[in-house]
Parts: sequence; structure tokens; C-alpha cells
Amino acid sequence: MINQKKISFDITIYDSFNELKEEDQSLMTAAIQARQRAYAPYSSFNVGASILLDNGKIVEGNNQENASYPSGLCAERVAIFYAGANYPGVKIKAIAITAASLNHEVNEPAAPCGNCRQAISEYEFKQGEPIKILMMGETGSVIECSSLADLLPLGFNSTFLN
Ligand code: THU
Repeated sequence: MINQKKISFDITIYDSFNELKEEDQSLMTAAIQARQRAYAPYSSFNVGASILLDNGKIVEGNNQENASYPSGLCAERVAIFYAGANYPGVKIKAIAITAASLNHEVNEPAAPCGNCRQAISEYEFKQGEPIKILMMGETGSVIECSSLADLLPLGFNSTFLN
């Protein structure tokens, strides 16, 4: 027997940063500030990520590039590994991501790359509660997704190892 199944998920699209709830504006503002501290001399593509922890604290990361290109790391993983390293056991409520290029205006929401989705999914799976994702460019609309799992269907997690 062959079964076909459709996998779909809901997103919320805000016309602009101004439409976000106050709490989400604060989180995105932290991501914008982190973005402005990015070290991206090779791509000129600056990304910032901020994470809201269950204890109310916000931690940030940005992309860190390297002359040996693959040695660099995306903003989302810098942020989430920082959270994991410094606040183990504290749940992650949300992550806001924003990108800006020195070469053109990024006017569409910046989506996390596949490796970052996998890294974030590790923490979501571990904590058993969804991590909300907010994505923004430099200008334009903001996309909200209620769980990382939506962005990584049929994902790999620790259960496969047991
Ligand atoms: N980058 C991120 O920081 N996050 C992503 O999800 C996609 C890409 C960074 C990596 C690199 O420093 C630059 O953007 C160009 O790919």
C-alpha cells in the first residue's frame, strides 16, 4: 500500500517591524544590534540573531567569518550555542533573525540555513517545547513561525541514535 501525506504549516506575516508585538520588537531590536556587530568581511552579508530565554534574558549572536571560509559560523548557531553553553537547562522561547547586505537591500525575511535549522531543532527537541522563529531582512515584512520543527519536516533527532 502507498500512502501520500501532505505536510503543511502556518506562518504569520507582518507587513513590517512596526506590526510586531512589543516583546517581539524588543527581541528583533536586539537582533538588529547584533547584526551591526557581525564580522562578515568576505560576504558583506551581516546577520544577527537574538534568543529569548525562559528566564527573560536575551542572548545574541552574529555571523563570524574566516579567511578559511568554512571555518566561519552563522549568526543563529553562534547565538544558540552561546545559549546552550551559558544557560544549559534554561528553555529557549524564541529566536529573531535579521540580515542586511552591504551590497544590496535585503527586503525579504532572512531564513535560517539548513545547518542552523538542524542546530536549533536539537534544542527544541531537547526542551520539548517549541521555539518561535521570527525572520526579517533589513526592511520589509517579518515572518513568524511557531516552531522550528515546521521549518525542518522529517528532521533527524536523537531518537534515531537509540
Ligand atoms: N549566514 C548566517 O549567518 N545565517 C544564515 O542562516 C545564512 C547565512 C551567514 C553565513 C555567512 O557569513 C554569510 O551569511 C553569507 O552566507
